[in-house]
Formats: sequence, C-alpha cells, structure tokens
Amino acid sequence: MNAPRLRRGVAVRLSGVRIPPSPLGDYAMDLNLTESIRKAYSVGETLEEYAKAEGVWPEEKEIFDKYFNNVGRVLDIGCGGGRTSFYLASIRNKVTAIDLSPKLIKAAKKKALKRSGDIEFIVKDAQKLDYPDNFFDGAVFSFNGIGFIPRKKGKIKFLKEIRRVLRPKGHFFFTADNFWFLNVYFPRRIWTVIKIFFSRIFPLEVREKEYGEKYFNDRIDAPYLDVKSKRVWEEIIKQSGFKTVINNSKYGVREKRKFSLLKDLFGDGNYLFFVLRK
Ligand SMILES: C[S@@+](CC[C@H](N)C(=O)[O-])C[C@H]1O[C@@H](n2cnc3c(N)ncnc32)[C@H](O)[C@@H]1O
Repeated sequence: MNAPRLRRGVAVRLSGVRIPPSPLGDYAMDLNLTESIRKAYSVGETLEEYAKAEGVWPEEKEIFDKYFNNVGRVLDIGCGGGRTSFYLASIRNKVTAIDLSPKLIKAAKKKALKRSGDIEFIVKDAQKLDYPDNFFDGAVFSFNGIGFIPRKKGKIKFLKEIRRVLRPKGHFFFTADNFWFLNVYFPRRIWTVIKIFFSRIFPLEVREKEYGEKYFNDRIDAPYLDVKSKRVWEEIIKQSGFKTVINNSKYGVREKRKFSLLKDLFGDGNYLFFVLRK
C-alpha cells in the first residue's frame, strides 16, 4: 500500500466496509474480514488506483529477473489489476493471477485483451488455495497484501499452504509493512499495543488481539491490517518451513546493502522484502 491515504468522510462513503465487533469470535471476524477487504478493493479510488497500476518497481524487477525468469508456472497472489502478473508473464512464465476482488480481476482481464502473455486471472481467496502439492514453480504476493492475512498463526498457516503448492526449490517473494517503520500509522500501532497490554490486566474490550493488528475506519484501501516486525516475520518464516534467501528492505535491495535497523525505519514506501525457498 502506497502513501497513506487518510480521508475524512470516507468511513461514511464506505460504511459497508466497517466491521462490527463480532460476538462470534475469531472465526466470524475472519469471514467478515475477507468480505471487507473484497469490498474495499471493489469500489472508488482504491479500485481505480489498483486497476490502473502499471509497472514493477526496480527492486521487484531485480528479484523477478533473478528468481522468476522463465521458471514455469507462477502464482501471483493478490494480483490487483495485474501490475506484477504482466511482468511475470513477459519473462516467459505461465501466470495464474488471483485476487479477492471480482472488479479488479475484470479490469486485469480487460487489459490482458490488448497484451500478449500466458496469464489466467481468477477470483480466488488466497487463504483457500485448491491447487495440488508442488503445482507452482514460483509464487508472489506483492505490495504488502500479506498484511491482510490475520495474526501470526494465520500467517504461518498461509505460508505453509504456499509452501505446499510450490515445487521443491521454488521461490516465494513477498513484501510487507514493517511494524517499526516510522510512518503516520506508527503512533496508532503503539496505541494499540498499549490498549492490548492493559486489556490483559483490566476488563477492557479491545478488538485487536495481537500486536500489529489494526482495524481502520478512515483508511479506504485497508479496513484491517496486521503489520509485523522483521523479527516476528523471521519467527513466522522459520515455523513455516521455508528457507530465507533475501531478508531485507526495499531500500536495502535498491542500495545493495543489508537491512539497517536505523536507515530502514524511514523512507517513502520502504517495505520489508523477503524471498523464500522451499
Ligand atoms: C495493495 S493491493 C496490491 C495489488 C497488486 N499486487 C499490485 O501490486 O498492484 C493488495 C491486493 O491483495 C488482494 N487481497 C487481499 N487479501 C487477499 C486474499 N485473501 N486473497 C486474494 N487476494 C487478496 C486485494 O484484493 C488487493 O487487490
């Protein structure tokens, strides 16, 4: 997700996207969440922005050219309007591109009519992958979409599923927001930490259950995000069974340096960059 987009009045315009507290617990939350994300990416400026999005970032290009060049069948998860799918196809892959939003898939299919490349666009929830074991030669979840997968346990389960559908030695690339990144959302992440902490001592109702989780009423491109730190991601990756090939930041990849605790707290659109190998 790009520069933060906070807008007054948006919560009203997208009131359908709001998630009411669920008396049914986690399961219902996850169901509502999927629908909320689908809606958020099916209306207004968010739909327009991702339907139009073009061109891979230089840092993505570097990774795609190295690990995804002519590898075979590639799964592009949360493909949006096909920004990364078209590039992955241009480097001689057969791409299966999936997204929750039928409107974004429709926009991607429309673009595909005017372009060459072996791509199949499908409306599908990435948390319900119905592919056989070892089916794909590579997988990608670009632009921090993985932040929509709720909680640490959900992320481990998700990575295990990606690992299952990947062939041995196949690569999975994803980017993620960093919990410690000093952007406009940082104070809110800390506030949520404080609320969760006190809810463990006092009888307070707090919707977020895990550090990094946040429900937004004023963010039109994300009704919910679960943003983990690099250290937490390392634990998640370890438990998923994947091996780590690249564990850096976008700026680290750009500047050909290692991740820096200090330098990588700042920078416009500086995300965590991971390449994993089965
Ligand atoms: C920030 S957008 C990125 C779109 C595209 N990858 C790009 O870089 O332009 C995140 C995308 O992930 C999709 N998404 C989120 N959760 C998903 C899920 N569980 N299954 C499939 N797609 C999902 C959203 O619908 C949205 O299109």
